[in-house]
Amino acid sequence: MNQNEDNEFNGFPQVRLRRLRRTPAIRDLLQETRLSVKDLVCPVFVQEGINEPKEIELMPGIFRIPQKSIVKNVQELYDLGVKTFLIFGIPKLKNDRATSAYRKDGIVQESVKTIKNNFGEKIVIITDVCLCQYTSHGHCGIIKNNVADNDESLKVLDRVALSHAEAGTDFVAPSAMMDGQVKSIRKALDHNSFKNVGIIGYSAKLSSNLYTPFRDASHSTPEFGDRKSYQMPFQNTNEALHEIMMDVKEGADIIMIKPALPYLDLIYKTRQSTLLPVCAYSVSGEYSIVKAAALEGWVNEEEVIMEFTTSIKRAGADIIISYHTKKIAEILNND
Ligand code: PBG
Ligand code: ZN
Repeated sequence: MNQNEDNEFNGFPQVRLRRLRRTPAIRDLLQETRLSVKDLVCPVFVQEGINEPKEIELMPGIFRIPQKSIVKNVQELYDLGVKTFLIFGIPKLKNDRATSAYRKDGIVQESVKTIKNNFGEKIVIITDVCLCQYTSHGHCGIIKNNVADNDESLKVLDRVALSHAEAGTDFVAPSAMMDGQVKSIRKALDHNSFKNVGIIGYSAKLSSNLYTPFRDASHSTPEFGDRKSYQMPFQNTNEALHEIMMDVKEGADIIMIKPALPYLDLIYKTRQSTLLPVCAYSVSGEYSIVKAAALEGWVNEEEVIMEFTTSIKRAGADIIISYHTKKIAEILNND
């Protein structure tokens, strides 16, 4: 085709771009997608009963930390410009009722209070609302006759969400995948004067093989069965979109898709289908795969992290939860 010939794009005639000079400064000017530390959420694992940070075996570079290290940990990231944290708790005590998930002095509740006392409104806290770290059997809900009992689980999840709200969290993120969990938690929060606490719906949580390192880290591998009955088959995007629309109706403030990289199509479709902010959770397996290859020297870690994470944003994610957050923040700060 001739360089000056008119071309059509979306029905509009376009003059074809000539090939531009590409100095680094021109490349910067023309860059379409820009990652910012402000897009990023850093997951934090706080564990009861340990004294020193412990590296997670399947996630080199990521630590389970004691509550006393949390301020230092958050401060380090805050100094790099990271302001949002997703808190996971690993309790000492597990039982079939998941009672340590909603204790006033539970590990998440205490951690939220500590962070809020030290940082106030300078940072945003999201807490994961699920039972799998707290149940002796490792499932996300209350089990009756070997299956998750939806209504019993909702009651407990409401209590967990309320206890996090009381501790001062900004958002609760219910991840148990019980039917009606967003609606039920919204109602519980509203009735207890927590109208201003937001909900991030783990709306499309695919039944993925990429959660293994997380389950190892948080001691939440199911003792029997699996989570396929309450997580979405990864082959079904329409069903996932339907689930998302239900969460929007139930009152979610932010929609989450998880994992991220294998589901860029779903992130894209979701971004086109809702006006709510879309959050993508790049999960533990996505981290470990890159980390393992990098440790072997098979890929350039920093380049791959930036390419993968940028692709998640390019697909339409407004907010990205990533275990690479610290590294990305360091890279962006040096840019
Ligand atoms: C708990 C929960 C899981 C993750 C986040 N919340 C595990 C699971 O569903 O098995 C996975 C996060 C990750 O892999 O990084 N419901
Ligand atoms: Zn769970």
